[in-house]
Parts: sequence; structure tokens; C-alpha cells
Amino acid sequence: MDGYFDAVLGDEDPALAAAAQAHIGFDLPDIGVSRAQGKLLHLLALVQRAERILEIGTFGGYSSIWLARALPPGGRLVTIEWERSFAEAAAGHLERAKVADRVEQKVGRAQDILPELAKSADQPFDLVFIDANKPDTPEYFDWALTLSRPGGVIVVDNVVLGGAVVDADNPDGGVRGMRRFHEKVAAEPRVSATTIQTVGAKGYDGFTLAVILPDPDTRSQTPDLP
Ligand code: DHB
Ligand code: MG
Repeated sequence: MDGYFDAVLGDEDPALAAAAQAHIGFDLPDIGVSRAQGKLLHLLALVQRAERILEIGTFGGYSSIWLARALPPGGRLVTIEWERSFAEAAAGHLERAKVADRVEQKVGRAQDILPELAKSADQPFDLVFIDANKPDTPEYFDWALTLSRPGGVIVVDNVVLGGAVVDADNPDGGVRGMRRFHEKVAAEPRVSATTIQTVGAKGYDGFTLAVILPDPDTRSQTPDLP
């Protein structure tokens, strides 16, 4: 199905296609987002009129390109990657996609870089995309909240993990991280969120969309029924 939609909607240029192949050079599985998901990120950034975007987990820069191409003139994407070789590959892909001037790559531990960002002029962000090491997702979500403006949007990848997320006894660090993430979202009065399951070229997974409410009192959207 993704192949069909990619062909019929096809808006992936050679620079995106090259970034989509990044995993091959590292002998890794195809861990980037799909074209359809990349385009969704691009559209969410457009709907949000995002001028400042934060991405945690650059990998080969594929999602970075989709996000950066949604920015207006003067807009900025800050993208964090722990693995230097991934960041170097991404730099080439961002250059080829002609978005390097809008993207600030930060290489290192997100746990170290995020507190620095909190003191910088890059924030607050309009949109944050979390797609990094799965066990630490709840902590990245905390930072995304800290670094976002009211009305900001937080998108999180790999929140379903093939359905494993329903299993409370699963010992996998990623599964435990995504369960802890959902519990945190549920307990957080500042956000309204939903998790959508996805199936496609990257298998069975899902993403969470969370909006930071301008006023926490508006969280309850259930009308008073007679
Ligand atoms: C995998 C998929 C992802 O989207 C990701 O961010 C990390 C790993 C995977 O399929 O292993
Ligand atoms: Mg992912």
C-alpha cells in the first residue's frame, strides 16, 4: 500500500530518496520514517505554521528534510543526534536537500543538549518530533514540554512497537519506555493527546500527537450532556 501511495502521490525528490537509503551504509534495518509519515510531519508543521522545530533523533536526516521544508523563510530546525556517524551522513543529505542553512545539527547526548537548549534563544519551539532511543522517551517528552510554547505540538514515533506496548510484562526497554510515556501523557494536565496506530512499509507501529493546551482548563472537551 505504501508503494502504491508513494507512486500515485509521489513527491519524494532525489535528495529525500538518498536520505531514505541512509540505513544501508550503516548496515542497519530501515529505521527512518516512511515517505507517508515524513509527509505527515511536513503537513503537521505547515498546519502548525511552525517557525521553530526541534527533532530528537536525526539519524540520516530523512524526517529532518521533510520538517525543514515546511519552515517559512527565517525558520529553524534544531536536530539532535547522539551517533556522530549518523549526524555526518545527515549533514550531507541536508546539504543535498538544500535545507542545511535552516537546520542546526547538535551532536551528543540529548540529556545534555536539552538543558542547554532551555537556556538558548532557539526555544520555545512550535513543534517537537521525538524519534530517538526509545527507553528515554518519557524524559524527552518532559523536555519537549519545557521547551515548547503554549499551543505547541509534540509528535512521538514508535509508540506501538508492533503491538508490544499493551504487554505490561514485556521486559524490553523500549516497550517499558513507551508504556511509561503514555502514563506520563495521561497524568499531564498541560497536554491533550492521542495515539494512532500505523501500518505500512515500516511495519506495525504508531505515533502519538500531543498538543500543549494554552489553558489547562480546556483539557476536558466532553460537553455536558443532558
Ligand atoms: C526502528 C524503527 C524506528 O522508527 C526507530 O525510530 C527506531 C528503530 C526499528 O524498526 O527498529
Ligand atoms: Mg522512529
